Amino acid sequence: MNTTLTMAMPKGRIFEEAVDLLRQAGYPLPPEFEESRKLIIDAPEAGLRFILAKPMDVPTYVEHGVADIGIAGKDVMLEEERDVYEVLDLKISSCYLAVAGLPGGIDQKAAPKIASKYPNVASHYFREQGQQVEVIKLNGSIELAPLIGLADRIVDIVSTGRTLQENGLVELEKIADITSRLIVNPASYRLHASRINELVERMRTLIESKEDNQ
Ligand code: PRP
Repeated sequence: MNTTLTMAMPKGRIFEEAVDLLRQAGYPLPPEFEESRKLIIDAPEAGLRFILAKPMDVPTYVEHGVADIGIAGKDVMLEEERDVYEVLDLKISSCYLAVAGLPGGIDQKAAPKIASKYPNVASHYFREQGQQVEVIKLNGSIELAPLIGLADRIVDIVSTGRTLQENGLVELEKIADITSRLIVNPASYRLHASRINELVERMRTLIESKEDNQ
């Protein structure tokens, strides 16, 4: 009998696209999948068990091996730097990381304040620019920070650009393009190579066929 693989799924904006992709790749998922409040969902016909985690935590579950595989945004991968294999670009949930702020310059001071949900990415980026900054970690609504004077700039995800626009902020520098990735625990990859490779190949074929049809 086939082993059941445990997959960590990010709750939130990536979730629906990820579920669609899995269904299109031929994995039958229960119809109540999207509506349920359960955090562990079995899909025996697909040979999969899902755990539904906060997006930023997906690589943690996979690194610790309680999930064999997972779906995580590249933003989360850059921030968390977990010891997992990134095996496939799923090319869903495209967006990018950028520096943004109020239009116009900022006070020339020693270390501008940068608010972000991605403190490691922000620190790394400004260090590479040779700029000293003070990074302030926030957990959401990052655009608020420059509006009320908590920070001079933000490092955040831009998708449609609406949040920036509606709050009178402008994009200043693009840091990195972001899409969702399929990630794998290294030990699970050795143990369940054929099942994991089958899933990777099914997803890869689907993604390539979508690209061909574009
Ligand atoms: C993300 C991101 C931006 C917004 C960008 O926030 O942090 O605030 O989406 O999307 P847009 O360019 O389409 O407006 P999210 O909705 O995930 O909530 P958060 O504020 O809790 O991070």
